[in-house]
Amino acid sequence: MKIYLAKNSGFCFGVRHAVEMAEACAAECGTVYTYGNIIHNESVIAELADKGVHSVENLDSLHAGDTLIIRAHGAPPSVYEQSEQKGIRLIDATCPYVKRIHKIVEQATQEGNTVLIAGKANHPEVIGIRGWAGGRAYVLEAEADVASLPEIGKAVLVAQTTLPEETFYAIERAIQARFENALQLQIRNTICDTTRDRQREAEEISRRSTRMLVLGSKSSANTQKLVEICKKHCKNTENIDSIDKLLLDKLLSDDIIGIVAGASTPDRMIREVLQVMSEQEKTTIETIEAEAPAEEVVVPQVTEEVVAAVEAPKATVTEKEESSADHEDSSDFASAFEKTMTRIHNGQVLEGTVISIVDGEVFVNVGYKSDGVIPMGELSSDSDVKAEDLFKEGDTIEVEVTKVNDGDGNVLLSRKNVESKKLWDELLSQENIEEKIFEAVGKEVVKGGMIADISGIRAFVPASQVSTKYIENLSEFVGKPMRLKVLEVDRQRKRIVASQKQVLLAEQAAEKHAKWEQLVVGSKVNGVVRRIADFGAFVDIGGIDGLVHVTDAAWGRVKHPSDVFAIGQEIEVLILNVDVEKERVSLGYKQLQPKPWMLAGEKYAVGSIVEGKVVRIVPFGAFVALESTIDGLIHISQVSVHRIAKVEDELKVGDVVRCKVLEVSPEAKRISLSRKEALLEEDPALAEQIAAERAERDRQYAERQEQRQQQRDGQQSQQSQTRTERPERAPRSSNSDRSSRDSGDRRRRNNEDGDYELPPVQEAKTSLASLFEGLKVDE
Ligand code: F3S
Repeated sequence: MKIYLAKNSGFCFGVRHAVEMAEACAAECGTVYTYGNIIHNESVIAELADKGVHSVENLDSLHAGDTLIIRAHGAPPSVYEQSEQKGIRLIDATCPYVKRIHKIVEQATQEGNTVLIAGKANHPEVIGIRGWAGGRAYVLEAEADVASLPEIGKAVLVAQTTLPEETFYAIERAIQARFENALQLQIRNTICDTTRDRQREAEEISRRSTRMLVLGSKSSANTQKLVEICKKHCKNTENIDSIDKLLLDKLLSDDIIGIVAGASTPDRMIREVLQVMSEQEKTTIETIEAEAPAEEVVVPQVTEEVVAAVEAPKATVTEKEESSADHEDSSDFASAFEKTMTRIHNGQVLEGTVISIVDGEVFVNVGYKSDGVIPMGELSSDSDVKAEDLFKEGDTIEVEVTKVNDGDGNVLLSRKNVESKKLWDELLSQENIEEKIFEAVGKEVVKGGMIADISGIRAFVPASQVSTKYIENLSEFVGKPMRLKVLEVDRQRKRIVASQKQVLLAEQAAEKHAKWEQLVVGSKVNGVVRRIADFGAFVDIGGIDGLVHVTDAAWGRVKHPSDVFAIGQEIEVLILNVDVEKERVSLGYKQLQPKPWMLAGEKYAVGSIVEGKVVRIVPFGAFVALESTIDGLIHISQVSVHRIAKVEDELKVGDVVRCKVLEVSPEAKRISLSRKEALLEEDPALAEQIAAERAERDRQYAERQEQRQQQRDGQQSQQSQTRTERPERAPRSSNSDRSSRDSGDRRRRNNEDGDYELPPVQEAKTSLASLFEGLKVDE
């Protein structure tokens, strides 16, 4: 469904001004009276009555002190005179366009002209004009009425402001035709431009539409004129005087609906109708403006001068006379009237009055023919704020025009921009703004960066300045709070370039500095291994990377730091050194680990069987690595269950051997091991075999001893016999022989024992201390 909306719809300037004036007076006085209905719209009249605005047809019921408002249609001078006589306070809300007609006819009458009024004789405006003509006026409702005019020499022709133009020109032609050159005729087309445009739009829209809705009261002449025009071109024309009369089910989805509204139709009704209809599926709304240009943006505005002009004939006769004196000079009036004309344009800042607040949007009277509307987003830079919290009806508000016509005939306004301008001024008045940090909100992504809102001020944040990291998608910052530092201010063009990155970097630097300050040599900190190099591991200790050198990784020999650390590993380290200037921290890991020798006593208990790798062979034994930092020694006597000449006969470097712990001395960092004992303990058959061999050797040894003893005994008895038979030998030679014999026995015995008796373990053990001496063992 398509909707064409006439640009000139709803209250005209004159009606709006009169209604507002009545409301303002009622608010001030409580009860006020209007001379006739102030507007041809029943619902508005009812609303006004609720506010204390009541209509009277004459002044009979009014008393001194009462307030009477002359409506936009105006009134004859007799009303002013009666008011003065009765002491009635008069407020003149006659539309300036109508007032101008009063001045024209008044002057024309004074100059001896007959006044001809094209219009409806019973229309209040025409009645009023007739009054200002001093009774010497004829009303011509149609060209046919010209025939009934008397003979006249000179005349001035004026028109009711809401008369159709063709009617006016038809009457004019009829006058010219009837009187020809006998009449000196001044033609003053006083048809209101608003009316003219409204009727032109009605014609144009009704030609294009399949259905026409004319909004307004059935008692409104200009609304009925619109109905008449629309019916000529669109047979489906309806006069809707209440939203309840709008029958949506009559509308077809392919209908083209034209909407026009009379000058007394409130904007509220137009909005309601549009709202209801726009809820229909696929509805588009287009505003149509009459092709014949009206004064495009030249509009009457209610300024102080306007009020002075329209209120001039009020209150008392004296005042009226004074003002009448003013009015005698029509050029003054025109001048005053011209003063009421002003232009509005995009970007203009105006002062207006809040009319109503609907669904968060604020409707404002800015003195323009159309109301202004502040959309929700233009209310404040604070998106959480509600219109109702900020304003109430009647409040004065400063706004900026963002669009003279939003397509629906409304003036789009922004309060936020006004706020922003003030904020900008405040901002520029601050000193050293480049050093300050501003709270902002990301608004939108633009080419090369994004726009952020600093309290209503738009600031450009280049993409590279949004964060300390590269941001793939800047839209993630839209709607999010940001903290910005101003990088650049173009005071003339009012542009700001800002950076969040600078704020973050500054914070990180401050944080880092604080952390460096907290680093105390000798204290323990937790960290995470981030990187491993050949010379050590880099550990993150909370934003600062410290180095654990490979020599500080473990107590034992470490070929590569990765033997001790893994990336991502959480460790506790000791701060060994801090160089704040060079930003270097040395960390120790092994320093917080127990020294291996301190645990050796527990780990390698005497008598236990341990396993290790032969790492070094020396003439007196073999060194076995039990762990990276602890070596034990197997003395050569403990290498094998058999006697060996050299260690290499039994072991080689790299062999893994099992040994029995014979002695542990953590203080001296020594462990004595016995492979022989472990072999025997772990192989009972071998132990038995060795024991049997030993027993056999013992038995043979005892046997030999006995034989020797027997030999010695036999030799002694033989010697005794010989001694008795031969002289005794010199003692020396006997001793020498025995000595020689004993020596031979001992050698023999040693040789025999050497095969079977290994040196006791104790003997080997006592010699280890000296063997270890001079050996360098890493701690
Ligand atoms: Fe005035 Fe024109 Fe309205 S004459 S009252 S502005 S229609």
